[in-house]
Amino acid sequence: MDKKQNEQAVGEDLSMERRSYEKYHLDEASVTDNPMDLFQGWYNIAHSSADIEEANAMTLCTISPEGTPRGRVVLLKRFTWEGFYFYTNYNSTKGKSIEAHHDVCLSFFWDALERQVIIEGVAEKTTPEASDGYFATRPRGSRLGAWASAQSSVVPSRDFLDAQLDSYEKKFEGKDVTRPPHCGMYLVRPRVIEFWQGRPNRMHDRLRFTLNKETFEWKLERLAP
Ligand SMILES: Cc1cc2nc3c(=O)[nH]c(=O)nc-3n(C[C@H](O)[C@H](O)[C@H](O)COP(=O)(O)O)c2cc1C
Repeated sequence: MDKKQNEQAVGEDLSMERRSYEKYHLDEASVTDNPMDLFQGWYNIAHSSADIEEANAMTLCTISPEGTPRGRVVLLKRFTWEGFYFYTNYNSTKGKSIEAHHDVCLSFFWDALERQVIIEGVAEKTTPEASDGYFATRPRGSRLGAWASAQSSVVPSRDFLDAQLDSYEKKFEGKDVTRPPHCGMYLVRPRVIEFWQGRPNRMHDRLRFTLNKETFEWKLERLAP
C-alpha cells in the first residue's frame, strides 16, 4: 500500500457513537463528609461487578521533568483513609516524573457502572518495609521479572528481555527473590476526589471533595457536567 492509499484506509467517523447513561444517580444526601467512604462503596460495587474485569486498573497521570504530561494504566494495590497505593519501578519514566513533580492524577472509569473517579494528589514513596511486604506476595515469576526489566528503558529485542529473565532465574536459583531496591510502592495522598455518575441528556452528576490543608476537612461541591 502506498502512503496515499494508507492514509485513505485509516480512520473512522465516531460522531454517531453515543450512549445514554441511565443506571444510577449521585446526590449530596447519599454521601458522608469523607470521600473515602464513597470511594469504598463504589469500589466494592465495581469489584463485585461481573462486567468489570479489573476494577483496580486506574490511569496514573504524571508530568515529566520537561513538563510533558503522560498517562498510563497501573493497578491500585491498596487504599486506606490515607490514600491510594500502587507498585512500580522507581527508575521508570513515571518514577522520574514523580521525582520531579510530586503532583499526580489517578482516574478510574467503570464502564458498566457509568462511573468515573478522578483523584488529584501528591505521590510519595512508601517505606521499604511496606514495599517489601507487598513484593513478598507476588508470584516468583513476577518477582524475577522485576529484576529482569529496567522498566521504560529502550531494549534491543524481545530475545534480550528473555535472556535477562533467564539470567536472573539462574542467579536466584534455590534462593528467595528479594525486592529490587528500585521497585516499590507509592502512596498518593488525595487533595481532590471527584465522583462522576453518568446521567441522561449529558446532565451527569459530579460531586467534588476538596481537602482543606489546615483543618483536614473535606469541602463538598457540585460541578456542572
Ligand atoms: C491493566 C494494566 C495494569 C498495569 N499495572 C501496572 C502496575 O501496577 N505497575 C506498573 O508499573 N505498570 C503497570 N502497567 C504497565 C504500565 O501501563 C506502563 O506500561 C509501565 O508502568 C511503564 O510506564 P512508564 O514508562 O510511563 O513509566 C499496567 C498496564 C496495564 C494495561
